[in-house]
Amino acid sequence: MNKPTMPYYKRHAIFCCGKSCGENMPLLNYLKERVAKAGLIMGDEDAVRVNRAGCLGVCQQGPIMVVHPDGVWYCGLTEEKIDRIVDEHFRGGEPVAEYAFHGVD
Ligand code: FES
Repeated sequence: MNKPTMPYYKRHAIFCCGKSCGENMPLLNYLKERVAKAGLIMGDEDAVRVNRAGCLGVCQQGPIMVVHPDGVWYCGLTEEKIDRIVDEHFRGGEPVAEYAFHGVD
């Protein structure tokens, strides 16, 4: 049996769409669009794979997103916060510490 293939990606952004995070599909779609507009598409050197998840087990100050392999957890996401995270973390390599509650010093 052939194994599935996967294009290269540098980071995996897992966005909570659980009930306590507001099941926020519009914001998830905004994140996906923003990542695409930034050119961080699969195969790109800084590519970001975006997936939605059910409850990530935090359920405070959502919407919550975790970014691996950095292990950075963000809370209280808005479009403005996502703009900075895409520009500074995903493109620039520096997590936005003021929006993170875990994984940054
Ligand atoms: S519903 Fe988002 S962390 Fe629980």
